[in-house]
Amino acid sequence: MCGIVGYVGEKQAQDVVIEGLRRLEYRGYDSAGVALVADGALATEKRAGKLANLEKAIADRPLPPATTGIGHTRWATHGAPNDPNAHPHAGAGRRVALVHNGIIENFAELRSELETAGHHLLSETDTEVAAHLLELEVDSGADLTQAMLAVVGRLEGAFTLVAVDAQDPSRVVAARRNSPLVVGIGEGENFLGSDVSAFIEHTREALELGQDQVVTITRDGVSVVGFDGTPAVGRRYHVDWDLSAAEKDGHDWFMRKEIYEQPRAVADSLLGRRTPDGHLHLDEMRLSDQELRDVDKIIIIACGTSFYAGMVAKYALEHWTRVPVEVELASEFRYRDPILDYSTLVVAISQSGETADTLQAIRHARTQRSKVLAICNTNGSTIPRESDAVIYTHAGPEIGVASTKGFLTQLVACYLLALYLAQVKGTRYGDEIDQVMGQLEEMPRHIEQVLAADQAVYELAREHVDTRSVLFLGRHAGYPVALEGALKLKELAYIHAEGFAAGELKHGPIALVEGGLPVFCVVPPQGRDQLRDKMVSGIQEVRARGARTICLVEEGDDAITPYADVVIRLPKVPVLLQPLVAVVPLQLFACELATVMGHDVDQPRNLAKSVTVE
Ligand code: AGP
Repeated sequence: MCGIVGYVGEKQAQDVVIEGLRRLEYRGYDSAGVALVADGALATEKRAGKLANLEKAIADRPLPPATTGIGHTRWATHGAPNDPNAHPHAGAGRRVALVHNGIIENFAELRSELETAGHHLLSETDTEVAAHLLELEVDSGADLTQAMLAVVGRLEGAFTLVAVDAQDPSRVVAARRNSPLVVGIGEGENFLGSDVSAFIEHTREALELGQDQVVTITRDGVSVVGFDGTPAVGRRYHVDWDLSAAEKDGHDWFMRKEIYEQPRAVADSLLGRRTPDGHLHLDEMRLSDQELRDVDKIIIIACGTSFYAGMVAKYALEHWTRVPVEVELASEFRYRDPILDYSTLVVAISQSGETADTLQAIRHARTQRSKVLAICNTNGSTIPRESDAVIYTHAGPEIGVASTKGFLTQLVACYLLALYLAQVKGTRYGDEIDQVMGQLEEMPRHIEQVLAADQAVYELAREHVDTRSVLFLGRHAGYPVALEGALKLKELAYIHAEGFAAGELKHGPIALVEGGLPVFCVVPPQGRDQLRDKMVSGIQEVRARGARTICLVEEGDDAITPYADVVIRLPKVPVLLQPLVAVVPLQLFACELATVMGHDVDQPRNLAKSVTVE
């Protein structure tokens, strides 16, 4: 939610900031703006709509040269996405400019205090209040760092603030509470960004900040203090991907590129997980074997696509470990007063590592003495930092707002966790674990095979350009796949799409079926015959009512052909691993359909990549 960039160095700040905003635009695209410090004054430009509108405005009315600047790309919370509400916001005398991600909860009270004191605010945002307060502090003699420390003490809520002072071009100052911010460390230049993609073009050295810290960057240094003013040190780390990972690489969309990266992402997520003697080994597993043996219940918390990965994980965890598993939407978790204690393992799944609902659920679990294990794709993000253990997914940066390789690698991490727990608890023999690891290591090849049949799926998508409603059916591990297929279509094509457990169909949803309605059916592999046969009955039921059945079936399963209007072949894989291949055609379908419908696939309307507000 909102992308933030800050720069101080020797380059033209405008170029660095705009380029950074381009890489962060997936975080929010309701408006964009920059503020530069040039010759003792602020030079600002901001525009509603996508970054391209801001770039056009700057091309029409160029900003002066400057080497210090900040920028923002917005996902609106307070106030409509128009020019006045776009960031940066300035103080009353236009000395301080500020960008913000998050929500300042006591802004109404602060606003009325400022208005009573004669301040005239130009926007409806909570952010402008902070800009005015900050300027009052620097006007009374504080430097920007001291001013920020004074202001954060007055703010409630979650925020990342990044500010510049027209009278001090040497520094950019930021504050962080429950909202993302990382520092990029360069030579003679330093950077701030909501994530590392903001500065990956310039440096791969990064510094992770803690909560409630203020950071000051100058050309030559970075200093961090807590909100109480005591010096602090961030964790420095090297970003293990480069600029090419943040580029489209010849594809029309990041999403499409990320779909085709899945074989590699899955392979990378499996790398280095086995010791030479064949034991499973998870690097970032900071929980002792005894702590894991004590686990008698697992609760998985996540949102959206990550939640569906959690639903698949339940099948694997319960099957391999015999530990009961609940899967819960993070946004609902703490409000139901869940039963937790030291023997409950909470597994938080988040691609971004910044989802506010998931973070709050983690905090609640930890107050109840439960251990939290994060499954996350983003090094340096808040969720792994606040968890007791972490399994990183190694998908590389996921920039398309709709998650694809993030999902597949989350599935891999869930399988690894289940097998690791089975190893520690002794619920599976070593050779069984070895066998499943072998099957997992075959999955990149199987995913390649599904991707090789992309043209048939694209053709199918193009036939559905006028479709207004699509259903998805699945059973067992195929049920979350159906839900994920429907979510992809809602997000990207903006059409009615729903996923159902096939057995539930006759209890109501079958009333939706009418002549010609496309119904995707994820058919369980043969060998699980009861499951598969029941799925076949479900397919027959919808077909009898006129549905157009599009069946995802493993190769060699010809029993399904009489009931399928369209067959999409899947490789033969074990039932628990089938989601890794079955979801891929659904991703391709949604991506292509949205493309032919003329939608922005990477930045669908109303969405943002990382949802940092509750
Ligand atoms: C998926 O396509 C989404 N855009 C969304 O549902 C996402 O999975 C959800 O917001 C959770 O994000 P996280 O994994 O970064 O926590």
